[in-house]
Amino acid sequence: MGISVLIVGSGAREHALTWKALQSPLTTAVFCAPGNAATAAIAINTGLDATDVDGIARFVAERDIGLTVIGPEAAVAAGLADRLLEARRLVFGPTRAAGRIESSKAFAKSLMERTGVPTPGHRVFDNPAAAKDYVRGEQRAFVVKADGLAKGKGTLVPRDTEETLESIDTLMLQRTVGGAADRIVLEEKIEGREVSLMALVDGEHVLALQPACDYKRALDGDRGPNTGGMGGYSPVAAFDADDVQRAVETVLAPIVGALRDAGTPYRGCLYAGLMIGATSVQVLEFNARFGDPEAQVLLPRLETDLIALLEAAASGNLASASASWTNRASVGVVLASRGYPGTYSTGVAIDGLGTVERDVFVFHAGSAASPSGYVTAGGRVLTVVALADSLADARDRAYRNVNRIRFDGMSFRRDLAQREVETPALR
Ligand SMILES: Nc1ncnc2c1ncn2[C@@H]1O[C@H](COP(=O)(O)OP(=O)(O)O)[C@@H](O)[C@H]1O
Ligand SMILES: [Mg+2]
Repeated sequence: MGISVLIVGSGAREHALTWKALQSPLTTAVFCAPGNAATAAIAINTGLDATDVDGIARFVAERDIGLTVIGPEAAVAAGLADRLLEARRLVFGPTRAAGRIESSKAFAKSLMERTGVPTPGHRVFDNPAAAKDYVRGEQRAFVVKADGLAKGKGTLVPRDTEETLESIDTLMLQRTVGGAADRIVLEEKIEGREVSLMALVDGEHVLALQPACDYKRALDGDRGPNTGGMGGYSPVAAFDADDVQRAVETVLAPIVGALRDAGTPYRGCLYAGLMIGATSVQVLEFNARFGDPEAQVLLPRLETDLIALLEAAASGNLASASASWTNRASVGVVLASRGYPGTYSTGVAIDGLGTVERDVFVFHAGSAASPSGYVTAGGRVLTVVALADSLADARDRAYRNVNRIRFDGMSFRRDLAQREVETPALR
């Protein structure tokens, strides 16, 4: 029996989810809320905004949607899963309460502390003066994090005491992320290499996906401002299957158990942002959704039917599920508009999309269809993903195809996966 699927969101992550959902023999139709110019070409865009809970709930009832897959954190925080569960609809994505693991960093930190999940020490402050007094007393740098959702702009990583004090002012007094920083977390600064570990969760059971790495800074060498993500790769040589298993046992399972025991079971994709240090693995944050660009580099490696897995997670049936992956490596390069994450222009013609090699995936985020072809319509425009037998070859292939695409102001990082190709082992 087939089902129709609704993918919520409009980025390259959702384009990748839509593309993968269409490969499933279980899928009879794929709708997107709202989707983007590229999903319009392969699925059916509804025009419904991702946070339009009423509109989406009505659509799901009218079209008898068998599975709704929530992409962005804003839709989680808007309570979309809660509404669909009330209507007895299958939804992949956590309730608002379970989603607090992402929407409140203070909540996530206290949950980790209670369950003994390794994470840097922290303090929570509602009052900027008290926060600054604390930093002056300690005379060292802290990572300063807005408690609430801030689209990647809520975490500042100052170098010293003085910059830490400025960061508190930036978030709490200049209110650069608004009410998201009415409360902040001051966190111990730690060193290491970051890995994203995502898992499918059905309220009880955890099915880890392959690890991936992403690049948040705009410029080569991890310089420049933080962005939504400039690219990534998978697998991660420095984080092997044993490391994944250990992280499931010490990080993901305890959190899933605690949320279940609290009466707010977690169903959906649980994303742990890990810092791999010389002697320990610690959690920097959780996200309540698939990563972007991690989804774009992982989904092409997944050999198992995505919809079967997401349906199993949504219906509490992950216990007997497993996922198989190609051994091939993938590298994804985000092509952005010049100026991103600041201001940029749009409406610029994108050339060369028809010239990429077969089997290289171009997932759209900020594009629009025009009579003469696709034009830019956002900061992050495309993610170009290539697979190959080695990470080095996947990297070469991704960049070779990036060079076939052109638009005025096209900018991208040239160093993605380079450190991994040069120094794969970490410990
Ligand atoms: N405790 C920490 N020590 C060092 N760097 C950190 C720490 N916490 C966060 N970072 C850096 O800041 C980035 C963003 O932090 P994160 O907690 O993931 O917040 P968000 O993704 O919500 O902006 C991380 O990817 C990491 O590079
Ligand atoms: Mg993060």
